[in-house]
Amino acid sequence: MSVSVLVTGGAGFIGSHTVIALAAAGYRPVVYDNFSNSHQSILDGLREILGTDVPCYVADCTDKAALFDVVEREHIQGVVHFAAFKAVGESVQEPLRYYRNNLDALLTLLEVMLEVGVHDLIFSSSCTVYGTPDHLPVTESSPVLPALSPYGNTKQIGEEMLRDAVTAGKPLRVISLRYFNPIGAHSSALIGELPIGVPNNLVPYITQTAIGLRPELIVFGDDYPTPDGTCIRDYIHVMDLAEAHVSALNNLRRLGALATHYDVFNIGTGRGASVLEVVRTFEEVSGQPLRYRIGPRRSGDVPAVYADASKAQEHLGWTARRTLHDALADAWRWEQHWQKLSAQP
Ligand code: UFG
Repeated sequence: MSVSVLVTGGAGFIGSHTVIALAAAGYRPVVYDNFSNSHQSILDGLREILGTDVPCYVADCTDKAALFDVVEREHIQGVVHFAAFKAVGESVQEPLRYYRNNLDALLTLLEVMLEVGVHDLIFSSSCTVYGTPDHLPVTESSPVLPALSPYGNTKQIGEEMLRDAVTAGKPLRVISLRYFNPIGAHSSALIGELPIGVPNNLVPYITQTAIGLRPELIVFGDDYPTPDGTCIRDYIHVMDLAEAHVSALNNLRRLGALATHYDVFNIGTGRGASVLEVVRTFEEVSGQPLRYRIGPRRSGDVPAVYADASKAQEHLGWTARRTLHDALADAWRWEQHWQKLSAQP
């Protein structure tokens, strides 16, 4: 029998791609999502890709009774926890809502796991924990600096909660994955990123501009201390990122009877790309010029951050395989597919 894995936030961007990667690796993913920032149509895409329905529960992670019921009923043996609010700017406006939601969800999940006796957890963390790093690329031992936003702080506090629980000897085996910038979509174009409203992130903004939903991209600043003056990030294909969760879960399950474990890994490509490089690569991929202009800096942006992902390669046997070009081609295919789908009556 396959091992059942609860995927909280499994209808979201990274969650839905991880459902595919888990199923491909022989796990049985069970989606748990409140659909506050996801779309029912993603379930149709998952069904089409997998050729079968994915079990899905519409509920909130802070609803302990509902979570407990699903974990027991589905014989869950491991959890990948994505469910969280993730808009950096919004978290600055609504900090308490972010702390309440993101921390409550994690605490409730941990209580349920301990009560039912589920040990293995993969936690979504972020490279935002490194703030503005002194040295590049960042390794897992680079200092964790004071968070730049309440969102980032919920990731730091989440990591600390998990480390403390493991240090206290709670029967938990946990890996926190610090994601760099996830982009792209499944190569089938049947699932992808669905930002609600105006996208905050670069790649959905680019694809929406190219398809005519936005008049132009504003490049936030070209006076940074980088070769072309625009910010540098480590853009990772969402399927590579999804596969990192499977490698992490496999790693925990290989620990055998070892009762407690905590570790943290950078999940990036190890290669930085500037905003203008992303724009140029997108133009190549789509075969059309992108309308953009240089605007002022966006407050809170770090000039450059990219990963040293060698620890994940060494311990998890995971490495990013797809290129920036692949990721942008998949993102563009998905945008075109989604516009066709959403235009249907
Ligand atoms: N950018 C633009 N124009 C836009 C949008 C973005 O120029 O319209 C630039 C940004 O200034 C930045 C780069 O594109 O230089 C990437 O910006 P994103 O908003 O796509 O990504 P961030 O690196 O700001 O944020 C990501 C995640 C966050 C996470 C953060 C950690 O989206 O969840 O990394 O550093 F907190």
